[in-house]
Amino acid sequence: MKNEFMSFLKDSVRQQVDFSRTDQSRGVEPPPIEKPCPENAPKRDLPGIGQWKNIPGVDLTTAIANRQSRRAYLRQALTLDELSYLLWATQGIRRKIDAGHAYRTVPSAGCRHALETYLCALNVRGLDSGVYRYLPVGHRLVFEFAEERLDEKLVEAVFGQPYPGRAAVTFIWTALPYRMEWRYGLAAHKVLAIDAGHVCQNLYLACEAIGAGTCAIAAYDQEAMDRFLRIDGRDEFAVYLAPVGKIRADGG
Ligand SMILES: Cc1cc2nc3c(=O)[nH]c(=O)nc-3n(C[C@H](O)[C@H](O)[C@H](O)COP(=O)(O)O)c2cc1C
Repeated sequence: MKNEFMSFLKDSVRQQVDFSRTDQSRGVEPPPIEKPCPENAPKRDLPGIGQWKNIPGVDLTTAIANRQSRRAYLRQALTLDELSYLLWATQGIRRKIDAGHAYRTVPSAGCRHALETYLCALNVRGLDSGVYRYLPVGHRLVFEFAEERLDEKLVEAVFGQPYPGRAAVTFIWTALPYRMEWRYGLAAHKVLAIDAGHVCQNLYLACEAIGAGTCAIAAYDQEAMDRFLRIDGRDEFAVYLAPVGKIRADGG
């Protein structure tokens, strides 16, 4: 039993996968680099990449040295510029190659980038409270839904951990495994999980530049979280989340 789970961490699967039979090798078109959304879904342009105001910045050594999991947030709104900056830092596109490939600000196995970013926005200036999804290609948000008691429902879905309920916004990353399987077949899943770590680490470091804090969360109720996001839990499911909020200037 233990070995079965442990083997997920090993790369032995690579010797079992016939890479000549993956969809990529068979000439199947790559899946789109972002999950499509209805054309008429309400979208929101974000402040342009690199055009943010009031992002003081911090040198990399300081950001790395100060990074820590922060679970206490001020009741202070995040600005749209700050949110835009955090989205760029975590999943922004550096260079689009074609409809199936784009380089982002984080690395990803085979450049597959099989994650989507949902936001449970509770206190972002200029953004109604609700659930949104980042559209990296156009650096925009699409509105997913709003409902009563969003904060309480999110807290319930993380087994009662209270900090997402007090955050300005919570990043929730979902996996679309096929985007990775298209290239790697059954060797997709380990690297997909590793990819999520890069994204969250960039969020930690970018938060340091805007006087905010975050805390990685991997303990959550899978079914409740997928229900919360209104996703199917099979072709797409939640894998990781991180609440973000402003912190005291002294970091305490
Ligand atoms: C993969 C992963 C999962 C985590 N899950 C949780 C979690 O569910 N709840 C929580 O409060 N902290 C969680 N954390 C934060 C860790 O507790 C934290 O990183 C650790 O205590 C070290 O503290 P530091 O990040 O301040 O260095 C998680 C961290 C990682 C990397």
